[in-house]
Amino acid sequence: MVKNEILEDLFFIERGYLNANHFVYRSESPILIDTGYISDFNETERLINNAGAKISDVSLIINTHTHCDHIGGNGIIQQKSGCDIALHKVGKHFMDTKDDWSTWWRYYGQKAAFFNCTKPLEDGDVMGIGPHEFEVIYTPGHASDGVVLYHPKEKILLSSDTLWENDVAVMTLRVEGSLALFQMQTCLEKLESLDVRMVYPGHGRPFCDIGSALSNSKEKIEHYMLDREVLGNDLIKKIIVYTLLMKKEFKETEFFPYLMDTVWFKETCDLYFNSEYETKYKDIMNTFFKRGIIKNKNGCLFTIIKP
Ligand SMILES: [Fe+2]
Repeated sequence: MVKNEILEDLFFIERGYLNANHFVYRSESPILIDTGYISDFNETERLINNAGAKISDVSLIINTHTHCDHIGGNGIIQQKSGCDIALHKVGKHFMDTKDDWSTWWRYYGQKAAFFNCTKPLEDGDVMGIGPHEFEVIYTPGHASDGVVLYHPKEKILLSSDTLWENDVAVMTLRVEGSLALFQMQTCLEKLESLDVRMVYPGHGRPFCDIGSALSNSKEKIEHYMLDREVLGNDLIKKIIVYTLLMKKEFKETEFFPYLMDTVWFKETCDLYFNSEYETKYKDIMNTFFKRGIIKNKNGCLFTIIKP
């Protein structure tokens, strides 16, 4: 875990793949940005405490979108503190209408709980985090309620899952619709116009070369548009790793039947791979075994990716 003071009293906390990175603003009324995955809440709480903030004093949580790895602590923290929760208005709509499909929770079989969003955000809003003013920029594509936060004075971008250093986040066209890739392209172009000296992404370490991250991402999205198989493969690979992180480990003999019971696995194979479920499964697992990303110990599968 890396804790890093990015502006006075505002800490960046780097996690792994299961838990998104998050931020703590230390004060008598602390503010949090994103809250990890629900099953790792104890660790999230420990890290928030370590940054000098008390859960029961939290005044506001800002979420960059409602995916399970960003909102996992919301319910408990709101219960203990009565804090406000700010989300893009599309995400507030998902919470108000109990839409666990658009949030991906049901689609990918993830654990998450609804919470009360008290502050709907819009593109162009300015959020005060103590003395630090961040612009809210709406960035649909990966998630239809996605936002990034930009501090123009210090040229800092909290890019969530809209911009990673060397990869793009999962693109789920079955939920987000066929326009998602185009929306992502537009968002990346929007980010290109910003003056940025440091990027704090939703997963992975901070980085300063936004130009190269943007061209990597744009190239990858173009690649997805030209070759649907690449998009399908990337999706299945990422969600298989994510599933193993959620479950910690999985009996090998039960893994394929489990996947066949989920909504996403069959739909993705239907969409990109002519419904060749077992062939695709074996193909992807073999690649993972060869690369050492997934291992088999006493008949149980686990991944070496950090949660
Ligand atoms: Fe996400």
